[in-house]
Amino acid sequence: MNEMRLAATPPMGWNSWNTFYDQYNEDVVRSIADAMVREGYADCGYKYLILDDCWSLRDRDENGRLVPDPAKFPGGIERVIEYVHSLGLKFGLYSCCGVRTCAGYPGSFEHERQDAEQFAAWGVDYLKFDNCHRPASQGTEMLYRRMSYALRNSGRDILLAACQWGTEQVENWITSCGAHTYRSTVDIQDSWSSVRSITEQRLQHLNDGRPGCFNDMDMLIVGMNGKGLNPETSAAGCSGCTPDEYQSHFALWCMLNSPLIIGSDLRSADSRAKELLQNRDLIRINQDPEGRTCYKLTCQCSPDAFTLIRPLSGGEYAVGIFNFGEKETMTGFPFWDMGLSSCQGQKLRFHDCLTHENAGVYSESFSVSVPAHGCRVYLCSAE
Ligand code: GLA
Repeated sequence: MNEMRLAATPPMGWNSWNTFYDQYNEDVVRSIADAMVREGYADCGYKYLILDDCWSLRDRDENGRLVPDPAKFPGGIERVIEYVHSLGLKFGLYSCCGVRTCAGYPGSFEHERQDAEQFAAWGVDYLKFDNCHRPASQGTEMLYRRMSYALRNSGRDILLAACQWGTEQVENWITSCGAHTYRSTVDIQDSWSSVRSITEQRLQHLNDGRPGCFNDMDMLIVGMNGKGLNPETSAAGCSGCTPDEYQSHFALWCMLNSPLIIGSDLRSADSRAKELLQNRDLIRINQDPEGRTCYKLTCQCSPDAFTLIRPLSGGEYAVGIFNFGEKETMTGFPFWDMGLSSCQGQKLRFHDCLTHENAGVYSESFSVSVPAHGCRVYLCSAE
């Protein structure tokens, strides 16, 4: 496969970290895989089932190989991977560029080739590659190049998801390393302040992240409602978000080209979370084949409101209007700012991506009331 095709659009899937931490096993993985298919997530494009940190034993075997924890995977990891594949899904694993993973399991430093070959032999399709416990003399850039090289020569298409946290100006060099996605910010927590601060950092780099190598804003917290087993994600003060906040979070990740990797327990998702995670209009924006970035318009009416506009293939525009303020605000944008001059008789038809209804045809400008921490998202086409 052409390597770029592995991330032609932002990858979509599910990851164990936020909900299960180190407490997962074969039964959990199978039941998540079943739910991904049964509950309609796979049909929407969520295809990677990714096991994060804590899947191996604490030490390599006598041949230097990573050993899947037999208490978690009594039939070996291959049996689990086979099951995931049998449902038409893809399988992801986690490792780290340092000597240990962030949770203290063996990392891939100086084992990159061996691990890449092992992952390929097991049938792994996606590798989340973290950044902890690096020897002081080793730069991250070189270590990501190493794993990328090893994966590219492993004989299997394996997507490399660099978990780099946005340090060392990662956006300047990560594409040339061969990674397909890169984390650009710290770990997400199940709170609005975390969503807000990750977004604010991302808005500083609006032009980065496009087909071939997308900017990863971390796992989705939609539906967690403060219930994850991960003590960091669900730390004090991280007891979940309101429905409007989760909606803004998902809409932002869609508008801003982030991978959509669910972190909640989708076996027991409430109907609101499920509907949001499966919102096909928002997913269509995220998965637009042109993969263009957004530009941002601010509004005189409120310093906390802003509009993101993104050209889509086929001449459409995605428009996301966000209110980070503490009270409901009337906000919007003049079409002039998106290059649309009304004296030429041009108008825009608005399709509401949250209600899936026609929101009317407008000329010159658009404004709408947006709740505190809420959003409105539209697909717009020329009239
Ligand atoms: C880091 C990563 C997280 C998660 C943990 C696992 O903190 O950023 O996403 O993978 O390590 O230990």
